[in-house]
Amino acid sequence: MTKEEELFSGGVAVITGAGAGIGMGLARRCGAIGMTVVVTDIDAARAEAVAADIRAAGGKAEAIRVDVSRPEALDVLARQVFDRHGAVRLLVNNAGIETLGYTWEIPAARWEATLNVNIHGIVHGVRAFVPHMLRAGQEAWIANLSSIGAFGQMPTQTAYIMSKHAIQSFSECLYLEMQVAGAPIHVSAVVPGMVKTSIFDPEAGQGEKGMGEPESAARHRATMAHMMAAHGMDLDEACRRFLARIAAGEFWVDSQPEMTRQSLDARAAFLTEQTAPALNETTRQLLGLG
Ligand SMILES: NC(=O)c1ccc[n+]([C@@H]2O[C@H](COP(=O)([O-])OP(=O)(O)OC[C@H]3O[C@@H](n4cnc5c(N)ncnc54)[C@H](O)[C@@H]3O)[C@@H](O)[C@H]2O)c1
Repeated sequence: MTKEEELFSGGVAVITGAGAGIGMGLARRCGAIGMTVVVTDIDAARAEAVAADIRAAGGKAEAIRVDVSRPEALDVLARQVFDRHGAVRLLVNNAGIETLGYTWEIPAARWEATLNVNIHGIVHGVRAFVPHMLRAGQEAWIANLSSIGAFGQMPTQTAYIMSKHAIQSFSECLYLEMQVAGAPIHVSAVVPGMVKTSIFDPEAGQGEKGMGEPESAARHRATMAHMMAAHGMDLDEACRRFLARIAAGEFWVDSQPEMTRQSLDARAAFLTEQTAPALNETTRQLLGLG
């Protein structure tokens, strides 16, 4: 029996943005090891399809439409899940959107959405669920989706990159808050390098009208999608690793340790040497600068 089966089987998992990508992969893995999975997503049909797949494979799952950019929706979700299923053992704050383009060309609505989904969606997930977890008094796990982008600079992905820096920092402080409070809650920062998902699909994160990226972003998005298809890690393999390491109580949960190491080394050098931000070879390639 694996560590995650031993600790998580029979428990309740709540995952945001679980209608596709990493959230979906984690939901399937949680279902396969015997958790009751609450599959939430802004897209109700996608969430239902994932929950139906889990049930068809013999697992337990329920789909609920939740837009994480609305704090009150997370309050309702937390109450609903604790009332219906009892204590939540695993909360994965996963929902996130990419936004590409020059800062000054991105519509205000898209800026707001990026910060609301990527930062506030996670902050309010924690704010809504932790009081219920503390009252339940049982050991619990919270995993927040950070990114390898949390350690670097990427021009024209500024909104996304700054949101991930924020979530990395939020998760580090939250980890310590649990110690200060003596709470039986483990906190992990999940740091995917590149995992094959739909995040660079042209329509991803478009949401409401007026949230479109500038036209200049389309080429960058296509390059990123191509790189992800060519070099990304298999989704199920990544999610299997993530869940095992979350269960082990690790704070750092990455998919491709060598990529993480490279980024951290570059970040450490940038900070200790206090150089100006510089366009490196990889960044130039991704931006099509030759
Ligand atoms: N795929 C990667 O290589 C990678 C790398 C680093 C970090 N991440 C992070 O992993 C997380 C998942 O990304 P992914 O690659 O699986 O993306 P994805 O686009 O494949 O899936 C994201 C899901 O989130 C949902 N979503 C979007 N806005 C939402 C909202 N307001 N409320 C609820 N759900 C919403 C979407 O409908 C979609 O189902 C994100 O936080 C992302 O930043 C991914």
